Formats: sequence, structure tokens, C-alpha cells
Amino acid sequence: MAVKILAIESSCDETSAAVIVDGQVKSNIIANQTVHEQYGGVVPELASRAHQEHIVPVVDAALKKAGVAKGELSAIAFTQSPGLIGSLLVGACFAKAMALALDIPLIGVHHMQAHVLANFIEDPKPSFPMLCLTVSGGHTQIVQVNSALDMKVIGETLDDAAGEAFDKTAKILGLPYPGGPLIDKYAQQGDPTRFKFPEPQIQGLDFSFSGLKTAILYFVQQQEKAQPGFLQENMADICASIQHRIITILMNKLVKATKETGIKEVAIAGGVSANSGLRKALTEYGEKHGWNTYIPKFEYCTDNAGMIAMTAHFKYEAAAFTDLTAIPSARAEF
Ligand code: KG4
Ligand code: ZN
Repeated sequence: MAVKILAIESSCDETSAAVIVDGQVKSNIIANQTVHEQYGGVVPELASRAHQEHIVPVVDAALKKAGVAKGELSAIAFTQSPGLIGSLLVGACFAKAMALALDIPLIGVHHMQAHVLANFIEDPKPSFPMLCLTVSGGHTQIVQVNSALDMKVIGETLDDAAGEAFDKTAKILGLPYPGGPLIDKYAQQGDPTRFKFPEPQIQGLDFSFSGLKTAILYFVQQQEKAQPGFLQENMADICASIQHRIITILMNKLVKATKETGIKEVAIAGGVSANSGLRKALTEYGEKHGWNTYIPKFEYCTDNAGMIAMTAHFKYEAAAFTDLTAIPSARAEF
């Protein structure tokens, strides 16, 4: 009998549901929350309320699109950690209620593991062992993936995440939240070599982005003081130069990781992997260094339930089920 799993993602500000049938994602519905834009960042309390509002219609739409009835489901999966606790609780309670009512297993999924496994939704799929640079609004990690359910973080940020580096510098430039996609858009028309921002000297495979943010703040303040209107006139070049620096910080560590591990299967994942410059850089570095590279389709880069469903599929195969008494947690290691 076919294995049909419904997956729910509610860790931050996207309410999403997906259905996977025998390892094939059949639907991936995502409801974005626009309420946060006016506050310049995600307001946790508002996010939880919006999840409550969206979850039933999003789940219904995912089942409908996949052509799967509730009674046919083999298991229910949900994002258990990490994330905003109030948001996680909405998805967890919904998933538990459904698992209880249908008398089927529950599968708790680690959100960052799911970002990595987004690379297995479509062909070509990486083989193991692989390295994944996972770059999102909350995390920046180099993950060594030995198998679908055996992963180890071998490098991570010591301060801001790459997504935060984009969003916080965008705020300095006066761009609305989330600024990452806007920096990407301006950067496409700009000269990435025009302004030189510093590369932090961090040992090993770890990252740091807070110094870059400060350097950009001082740069903008000084230039604007000397020449009012500088920022607006040079927005494309500034964005291109910032993006270039963030990408080189990421790629230099990735090169180091491939050299240290000898692994040439290299993927990216997470919201920042939607960045056009990073996608291009991965392909170029791959050609130069002889890597096989993998990048998820856009809809599987930012938060989505398709990746939770993919992870749940692997967990179902391993009979890695979650007890109904399990509680979500805001922070959690793999
Ligand atoms: O994975 P994600 O959707 O949510 C988290 O789990 O954090 O990542 C969101 C992050 C935000 O910081 C957003 O600005 C960034 O991904 N992002 C981008 C782009 N699209 C999304 N950053 C740079 N360029 C983009 N095109
Ligand atoms: Zn995420």
C-alpha cells in the first residue's frame, strides 16, 4: 500500500502543508504572513495567531491538490524544532489532534534537517556523504550528511545568520523586511567590485557576520554625511558589493570544508539559497573545484512543508515515530 504522509510546517512566519506519496511530493501549499512587514521583523505573537487562522485551509488545500483523503493518510508530520515556540505549538497541536483522531503515527521533524533534505525532493539527488551549506534567517551551517538521518554540523555562525546579515544590512539601507530578496534584486543591476567590505578572519569552518553589518553601517553613515543622496544613487552597487561579500564568506568556508572532508557532493539549502548570486556562485565553484552541486527549486528553499514531508518520508521508512506527549522546542541540536 502506498505511504501517504501529511506534513505541517509552522516554525516561523509561513504556514505550510504538503503531502508526500511514496517519497514523491504531491502538493506544497504555503501561506505567507504579510502582517509583519510594517514591524520590520516577525512578531511572534502575531505569527502564532496567523498560523491558527491559516492552518485548516492550508491543510485542506494540500490534501485536495494531492488528491488524498484524510482517511488514506499513513502518518502526520510536523516541525518540532527549532523555531518560534508559539508558532511551533500551533502546528504540533494540529498534527497531534489529527494523528489521534485518525489513529496513525506522528513524526516530529527538525527544521534544519528538513532544509538539507529539500535537496532530495527532485532529481538529480545527491549521494552520501554530502556537504550542505544551510543558510536561513536563523542559521548558517555547514552540515556533513552521512545519510538522510545522520547529519553533523561541522561549521556554524558565531553571531548573525547569513539571512540576518542580508536583512539587517537591508534595514541599514532603508529597505523593508525581509530585505534579503530586495538586496538580491538591486544587486542584479550593480557592480559587485565597486565597494570593498571586510572579510572576517574566523578560524576553522565557523562564520561571523556581525562585523560586516557594523562596517556597512559606518560606511553608509560616512558616505551619506559627505555626500547626501549617496545611498539612493548607489543602491545597486552597494547591494551588489554587500551580496558579493556575504557570498565569498560563505563559499570560502565551503571550499575549506570540501578540502578537509574530501567530500565533493555539495548542496545548498535554506531561505538564502534562493539568492541568485549564491546559486550562481555554487555552480561556478562546483565547475572550478570538480564538485557535483545541488540547489533546491525556489519553493523548497524558503520555509515550506515539502521539505518536512521529505524528511518524514525518510523517518517513516526508519520507523522513527514521535510520541504524542512530545513537545516542540525553540532550540534543538540535530
Ligand atoms: O529558511 P527561511 O525561509 O526561514 C528561516 O528558517 O529562517 O529563510 C529566510 C531568510 C530571510 O533572512 C530572507 O531574507 C532570506 O532567507 N532570503 C534571501 C533571499 N530570499 C530569502 N536572502 C537573500 N537573497 C534572497 N533571494
Ligand atoms: Zn527555515
